[in-house]
Amino acid sequence: MPKMHTAVFSKLNKLEDTTLVQLVYVSSMTLGSRFSMTIFEEVESHARNFNQQQGITGTLCYGNGHFLQCIEGEKDKIAALTQRIFADNRHKHVQVLLLQAIKQRSFTDWRMRLLFLERWLWSPAAKKQAAQLSPFLPFAPHHWSAADTEQFLQVIKAFDTPPHINAAGITYNALGNMVRHIAAPHQAFLVVQGFLSVLLAVGLVLLYI
Ligand SMILES: Cc1cc2nc3c(=O)[nH]c(=O)nc-3n(C[C@H](O)[C@H](O)[C@H](O)COP(=O)(O)O)c2cc1C
Repeated sequence: MPKMHTAVFSKLNKLEDTTLVQLVYVSSMTLGSRFSMTIFEEVESHARNFNQQQGITGTLCYGNGHFLQCIEGEKDKIAALTQRIFADNRHKHVQVLLLQAIKQRSFTDWRMRLLFLERWLWSPAAKKQAAQLSPFLPFAPHHWSAADTEQFLQVIKAFDTPPHINAAGITYNALGNMVRHIAAPHQAFLVVQGFLSVLLAVGLVLLYI
C-alpha cells in the first residue's frame, strides 16, 4: 500500500466508528478502462446499491481522464469502501485531497451521480449553468490544495440540489462519447468527406488497373 494511503487509514482509525467523515480523492482512469463500454455504468450501478445500503452520499466527477470522488458517511463505512475503491484496478494514481470529520453532509445523493467535466462536450445550456466551473477546467485535480478542493466542492454542491445541472450524461464509454460529440455537429461534412474519399479510392484503383 502506498505510504500516503497508510497515513489516510491510520488517520481514519483514530476516529470513532460512528463519526461522520468526508473523504475526497483523485485518480486517473487506466488506459484499458478508457476503452471500456461499461465502466461508468458499472461504477454507478454498484455505488447506487451499495452506498444506499451503507448510508454513503457523495459525488463522482470525471474529466480529462481523471476521477474526483467525494464520499461521506460513518467512518467505519467510509474506511471499508475506501479500501475497495483504492484497490480497484480500473483507476490508478489514487491520491487523497481531503479527509475530515464533518458535522453535516455536503451531498445528499447516495446514487453517486456522475458529473462529466469536459466543457467541450456540454450543450450550450449546460455550459451556461456550469459557468462557475471554468476556473477548475481543464480538469486536472491531482495537484489541488485542500482549499482548491473545498472551493470546488462548494461549486458542485449546487449541482446536487434540484434543479440538477444537466451536464452530458454518460451513456457511452469515454472514447465513444468523444467521437459522438465531435461527429454529431459535423455529420453533413463527414458524409461529404466520406463520399469524396470513396470516389478518390475508386479513382486511384481505376488508374492503376
Ligand atoms: C472511480 C471509482 C469510484 C467508485 N465508487 C464506488 C462507490 O462509490 N461505491 C461502490 O460501491 N463502489 C464504487 N466503485 C467500485 C469499487 O471500486 C468496487 O469495484 C466495488 O465496490 C466492488 O468491490 P468488490 O469487487 O471488492 O466487491 C468505484 C470504482 C471506481 C473506479
